[in-house]
Amino acid sequence: MPALKPLPDCEGPKLEPCPFDVVGPDCQWLAVIEDGHHSAVVKAAIKGKLYAIKIFFPESLKIVLGTEEIDHFKPLVGEKAMILHLAPFNAECRAFGRLKEMDCEHAAVRVYGYVNIDMTEAVEQKIRGAMPGRFDDPRSMYAIEGVDLVLCRVGNTGPPIMAIVKDWIEAAPDFRTDMIAQGRSFRRILKNLHKLHRCGIVVRDISDAQFVNGVLVDLSHARTTPHVFGPDSGIRPAWEWASMAAYDLYSLQEMIDWWNETEWSWIPGDAPAPKKCTLRAYGDPEGVVLDRLRPRARLECQRPYLRMIDLHDYEYLQMTHPPRYDPAAFDWRKAVERKKKRGAQAKPSPSSTGRVQSRVRLGRKRGHASTGRTRKAAAVKQENGVRVEEE
Ligand SMILES: Nc1ncnc2c1ncn2[C@@H]1O[C@H](COP(=O)(O)OP(=O)(O)O)[C@@H](O)[C@H]1O
Ligand SMILES: [Mg+2]
Repeated sequence: MPALKPLPDCEGPKLEPCPFDVVGPDCQWLAVIEDGHHSAVVKAAIKGKLYAIKIFFPESLKIVLGTEEIDHFKPLVGEKAMILHLAPFNAECRAFGRLKEMDCEHAAVRVYGYVNIDMTEAVEQKIRGAMPGRFDDPRSMYAIEGVDLVLCRVGNTGPPIMAIVKDWIEAAPDFRTDMIAQGRSFRRILKNLHKLHRCGIVVRDISDAQFVNGVLVDLSHARTTPHVFGPDSGIRPAWEWASMAAYDLYSLQEMIDWWNETEWSWIPGDAPAPKKCTLRAYGDPEGVVLDRLRPRARLECQRPYLRMIDLHDYEYLQMTHPPRYDPAAFDWRKAVERKKKRGAQAKPSPSSTGRVQSRVRLGRKRGHASTGRTRKAAAVKQENGVRVEEE
């Protein structure tokens, strides 16, 4: 069998194949979550460690783009390019690939790679075994949804089902604990969102369904530069990337606002109600930042505002506040070069190994100024109202 190559097969970041055999006898499929729009997520165990295997439903480009959009862009960029950049599996491979490239994996769930799953009867047994009762109702035969979309492929000679293997994140034991933990994780989520934007990634689908215990697990709507609709593509305007990043922050603000409105007395449990979260991920789109105590001065934002591009063009929002980092400003070519250089430097000659290591240790112990210098090197400058990173 030919060796698997990193995917997707187009310019930009890619994800390596996963080294584990997730369909073999050593991998137990414990449960299947059927919540997602694009996928079913298997909770699996290999040698006592838990993993999430996200199995993508086939042919899901239509889930991310409307038929009109597909027809409009097909003659301009071709269907293949759209699938390579926008299909949920490829979108996740590219986004997680970029996070690895930038040593920024901690900004979302840890990913081990992708797998091709041949839909054999053995795999069907694993799925059925992990979903007791799911197939008992004869009426379910008429509704082909969720894992049925995958099971339809059993015995087919079509392309394999694609999956991505991630760390399993254990959810909180009950709703109240989960909600309290969510409040504590907003600050970290905001920090991570800024990091993603800085790495040329927009998530576009921020909601509490995409987080487990404060960890971002879903990047299937993400767009990562370079992209078929990217800043250099000439197909869509470059400001859209700042706009999509602003929408990520706006969506996080909505999560915070909803959380602040929680009626704690209605949620069972003894844990005391937490204090309100004062963090602001995004300014008020009306241009006024409302304080709990008093309204502050109207912000001076340049008008007319650009549109804030939401996931499905449902809402009519304006980008009243720019994001901290414009993903379009991320220089992905430079990043690849840097990664290559670092890769070469990481293989020092045997004689120099000891010296390099001891220098690193000394630097850490004495609180060496190198961290300060590295931070300075990434000076932030203001450009067109959008903060960009100067590498
Ligand atoms: N790594 C994980 N650990 C634990 N639960 C997960 C993990 N990944 C996904 N899930 C669960 O599965 C659900 C669907 O996964 P998600 O990646 O959001 O799929 P989709 O792209 O189809 O929406 C999530 O809402 C979450 O409850
Ligand atoms: Mg999801």
